[in-house]
Amino acid sequence: MGEPHLVVLDDARALARAGADVVAGVVNADGPVTIVPATGETPVGMYEELAARRARGDLDTRDVSIVQLDEYLGLEPDDRRALFGWMKRTVLEPLAVGAERVARLPTEGDVDAACAIFERELDASGGIDLVILGLGTNGHLGFNEPPSDASSVTRTVDLTADTIAANARYWGSERDVPTRAVTLGLRPLLEARHIMLLVAGASKHTIVRRALEGPVGEDVPASFVREARGSVTVLVDRAAWEGE
Ligand code: PGA
Repeated sequence: MGEPHLVVLDDARALARAGADVVAGVVNADGPVTIVPATGETPVGMYEELAARRARGDLDTRDVSIVQLDEYLGLEPDDRRALFGWMKRTVLEPLAVGAERVARLPTEGDVDAACAIFERELDASGGIDLVILGLGTNGHLGFNEPPSDASSVTRTVDLTADTIAANARYWGSERDVPTRAVTLGLRPLLEARHIMLLVAGASKHTIVRRALEGPVGEDVPASFVREARGSVTVLVDRAAWEGE
C-alpha cells in the first residue's frame, strides 16, 4: 500500500493515451491477466486507443480475461441499457476478448447468493490484476454507492438519486435509469494488484478532491483507494483537477 500515483493530463486525448500505457504494461507482462473494465464515458477514449494499438499489432490481448464490474437489475438480456452490452461494444469486441474469457455478474434468481459464489470464484482464480474505474459524482466506484465501506462484498444495491440523475445522460431521462443494480464489492476491488482511476471534466472536480484529499470513509467510497492493497494510479484531466 502507498500513496496513489496522481497524474494530471492536459486533455481527454492525453488521458486516453496515459491510461492505455498503464493497461498495455499489465497486458504485455508475461502470463494471463484478469482485468475489470469500467463502463461509463470516461474510459471510452482509452479503450479506442487500446483497440488501435491492437489493430497495429502493438497489443496482444489473447491472455486477457475480463470480469464485469457492475450491471443494472431488472432488465431483459437484450435491453439496450444493459451494461454488459456496453462493455461488449466498447471493450470485448474491440479488444477481441471472446465470451469464454468473460465472467458476467449474476442478475437472475437469488442474486446476493450468486454474488457470494462469484466473489469466491474470483478469489480462487487469483483475484484481479487491474481494475479500471471511473468516479461517480457521488464518489461511487462501480455501483458501490455511499455509504459503502472498504469491506463491502459483491452484492445487489439500490442506486442513489445522484447516480440515477448522472446516468440519465446515457439513456435519455431519469425514468429510463434502472433503480437496482449489482456491483463488485469494494473488498475485491481494493485487493486488486493494480487500480487505475480515471477522472475527467470539471463536474468531477469537487469529488476527486474529496476522494484524494478529504477524510477516508464510507461517505466517499472512492477515498478508499488511498488504502488499497496494490498500486494505485489516478489519471485526472486538468478540468477535473483544477475545476475549470
Ligand atoms: P462516467 O461515469 O465515466 O460516465 O462519468 C463514472 C461513474 O459513474 O462511475
